Amino acid sequence: MKNMELRLRVNGETHQWTIAPGDILLDVLRREGFYGVKRGCEKGDCGACTVLINGKAVNSCLMFAAHAEGCEVTTIEGLAHGDELHPLQEAFLDHGAVQCGFCTGGMILNAKALLDRNPNPSEHEVREVMAGDYCRCTGYEKPVEAVLAMAAVSRKTARR
Ligand code: FES
Ligand code: FES
Repeated sequence: MKNMELRLRVNGETHQWTIAPGDILLDVLRREGFYGVKRGCEKGDCGACTVLINGKAVNSCLMFAAHAEGCEVTTIEGLAHGDELHPLQEAFLDHGAVQCGFCTGGMILNAKALLDRNPNPSEHEVREVMAGDYCRCTGYEKPVEAVLAMAAVSRKTARR
């Protein structure tokens, strides 16, 4: 099948890439250098390939790149500003919620999508979202603590 042009924004920058109609978004993003998008199960089970598409968490291994036409894509590379980490990244570090790091980008992006739509999630809601991220290292306690702590700090700051 003929190649096509894909126009989208990734982490705030506009891109135009030549893709095949059957290309998967995970493959295209990694091909273009966004290595924070991890290749895990490629079946929608592990969450390592999570990106935000127009603010919604999506498994990029299950999405045709062509369907991202015109979308705003956020990968884990897009969260920090230079040397300044996103508060969720800081919280993960502060709470010892990162070990090998393979799942961490997906966890943080899933947590961001949750907190953007619900700044005051219950522990149960955080655990439900994290259930889509397989982690072999942390046992989930620390990532859940990190997300709840960051949410609490954000609420306090917003009240000031
Ligand atoms: S690689 Fe996409 S969910 Fe596992
Ligand atoms: S920190 Fe290693 S898989 Fe989660």
